[in-house]
Amino acid sequence: MRPLSIIRDKAKAKRRHVVLPEGTEPRVIRAVGTIIQEELASVTLLGDVDEVKRLAAQEGVDLTDVNVVNPANSPDFSGYVEQFMEIRRDKGITEEAARETIQNPLFFGAMMVRNDKADASVAGSVNTTGDVLRAGIQVIGLKPGIKTVSGAFMMTVPEYRGVQDKVFLYADGAVTPNPDAEQLASIAVSTAETMENLIGEEPKVALLSFSTKGSAKHEDVDKVLAALEILKRDYPELKVDGELQVDAAIVPEIGKRKAPGSEIAGESNVLIFPDLDAGNIAYKLTERLARATATGPIVQGLARPANDLSRGCSVDDIVDVCAIAILMKG
Ligand SMILES: CC(C)(COP(=O)(O)OP(=O)(O)OC[C@H]1O[C@@H](n2cnc3c(N)ncnc32)[C@H](O)[C@@H]1OP(=O)(O)O)[C@@H](O)C(=O)NCCC(=O)NCCS
Repeated sequence: MRPLSIIRDKAKAKRRHVVLPEGTEPRVIRAVGTIIQEELASVTLLGDVDEVKRLAAQEGVDLTDVNVVNPANSPDFSGYVEQFMEIRRDKGITEEAARETIQNPLFFGAMMVRNDKADASVAGSVNTTGDVLRAGIQVIGLKPGIKTVSGAFMMTVPEYRGVQDKVFLYADGAVTPNPDAEQLASIAVSTAETMENLIGEEPKVALLSFSTKGSAKHEDVDKVLAALEILKRDYPELKVDGELQVDAAIVPEIGKRKAPGSEIAGESNVLIFPDLDAGNIAYKLTERLARATATGPIVQGLARPANDLSRGCSVDDIVDVCAIAILMKG
């Protein structure tokens, strides 16, 4: 079975609730039709109720079992406004600004997740990645100990060294242009957790570089080594090594030769890139040259899941990201 089908099945078994803030987007409505039909999750759609219902009728989607909520008319609205003012108190937010923010379905959806009214939020079919991330960062916040939100790409390679549909996670491919050592360590921890939650494989984390084990000296290598030190200190059970060139990370013979004695060299399934240039270029190259399927960015590092879609997403992509978001809760 393909990794994304396995993810859908695992998500279904969790019997969770997703909120989709973009309730007036026809692709989202069709995706909800599939989610309900496949009993993948229960759903809240946000938006003007009449408009959502009109569109659903037009798309032939039965919303009988779907909770449709207009944020501004919700009985939770004023409570969320108060909470948001509390969260943003040190930013000097006015009540008027808070009311306006919580009327935005992205923020209302994030509030539902924060308050356990939904397990995960999924948006981005019409909103930008930045807007989706900002709602998640401001309302849900970061996981304890994590310094940055990041975006992982799940790369499903058709065949790698005899394994069909081999999955690697690449990060960060979407958020932080020049992570410092602490941020890099956080990206590694989050991506390792994503590997466990989504794929159920033991994460073997490689901190990538243009150098392997001191073959080159440069301040960029020092940053990777500083991240490794943080990880060894704060996450002693994590299987991680660096600095490694990517061949030493994923080719067993080269790993043995260039990084003898390493716990993960040659066997890595979680690839942490030193910066966003490297991560973003690598995922697109793998997609094009190795005909891999790239799924993501999978937003990670938030205390609870709020996931992003690409604006060009298909109905099927939305269903997949809902399944991913459900599993990101652990
Ligand atoms: C993350 C992002 C939304 C922050 O945007 P921003 O509002 O311009 O950033 P600011 O520097 O003004 O910070 C706003 C808040 O977010 C926080 N923040 C910014 N980047 C963060 C990150 N990576 N992780 C956690 N918090 C972050 C800031 O600390 C700040 O918090 P505060 O409001 O409590 O003070 C922005 O970097 C972004 O849009 N990234 C996505 C890039 C993208 O589109 N990639 C392509 C996808 S393939």
